[in-house]
Amino acid sequence: MSLAPLNEIPASIVAADDYIPYAKERISPEVWAYFSGGVADEKLLARNQTAWQQYQVLPSMLKDFEEAHTHYTLLGQRHDFPILLAPVAYQKMLHPDGEFISALAAAAMQTPYIISMQSSTSLTLLCEQIPGTKWLQWYWQPDQIASQKLLAEAAKLGVEAIVLTIDAPVNGVRNREQRVGFSVPSGVEAVLLKNFKSAPLTVGSAGESPLFGSGFLTNAPTWDLVEQFIQHSPLPVILKGILNPSDALKAVQIGAAGIVVSNHGGRTLDTLPATASILGRICDSIDGHIPILVDGGIRRGSDIFTALALGASAVLIGRPYIWAMAAAGASGVAHVLHILRTELEVTMALTGCRTLDEIRQVELIKAQ
Ligand code: FNR
Ligand code: LAC
Repeated sequence: MSLAPLNEIPASIVAADDYIPYAKERISPEVWAYFSGGVADEKLLARNQTAWQQYQVLPSMLKDFEEAHTHYTLLGQRHDFPILLAPVAYQKMLHPDGEFISALAAAAMQTPYIISMQSSTSLTLLCEQIPGTKWLQWYWQPDQIASQKLLAEAAKLGVEAIVLTIDAPVNGVRNREQRVGFSVPSGVEAVLLKNFKSAPLTVGSAGESPLFGSGFLTNAPTWDLVEQFIQHSPLPVILKGILNPSDALKAVQIGAAGIVVSNHGGRTLDTLPATASILGRICDSIDGHIPILVDGGIRRGSDIFTALALGASAVLIGRPYIWAMAAAGASGVAHVLHILRTELEVTMALTGCRTLDEIRQVELIKAQ
């Protein structure tokens, strides 16, 4: 069907996006649509990227860089650089070893890996075979007994935090996937979800809403349910998918250990704001109470710099590591992390920031 992964990374791959053509020719058009696509007209997919460029940095020259570094602490753990791998579902569609490959690269680069609840590789395998910090992304499930059992198992396996995704009670309208007829191929499955009975979808009569009334959203979580989830969780819970500053404050009030400012990589609703456009307001409203992570359209180390200057503690990347993995397996993923980290350090060197805390003091100029 497709070309083998690259044995050697071509010298012409010097930026994260340079992996795109190599990835595209190695996966089917349907799988490409799933991993690369966004929702509806994909305006937010584009805006997520361009929004980082609305900020420019006022640099300071002639700093002494002897003590410079990119270390930081998150949930009590020290990490070398502020880039995490975002949860991305069904990675066996990209590589027969699926999430094992990307988790291995994260471990090699010593950065946290967030396992998707729709991982196609088992939690036990990822936790027992691969060292390093692992968090588990979670979609709230109505079955509390099965949830508690799996959460306890995750804690026992060494998972350090739960990332509860709250922005996708229902899938967005993914026209790109629909146009090419994408469906998850047989042989690839969300192994963790086998612990749960699938939500009973009552198919109403004509004229009844598929979502409202007794429809699909009867199984969607609410703030009260999420608060209970946090109270019963054996692990700290980070809420992923916050865009509204008042939701960020609610997250603090109900005991979240952190938040991820995210619009699900432009995969839910096309008219949401780009994360770069709302991050500053959210950071101001939270005022340092809990760590704020952000994702969406981050393709350059200079985007990571901007995210930190706006107040984030660290960033998540999704598609950039997926493309690198499709092109070159684990070495591609490690390489893309290396590229972004190096670009971040170059940005720091050229703006006079010696630490991540100094990035937070920098003045951003908003482009007209
Ligand atoms: C995702 N994302 C996602 N998020 C989540 O909480 N659970 C999941 O299983 C998935 N699965 C998933 C699959 C694919 C193919 C993509 C592209 C994204 C969203 C992901 O964690 C992250 O928020 C975005 O990917 C960040 O945007 P960028 O870096 O891809 O632009
Ligand atoms: C997605 C789901 C799995 O974005 O979160 O495809």
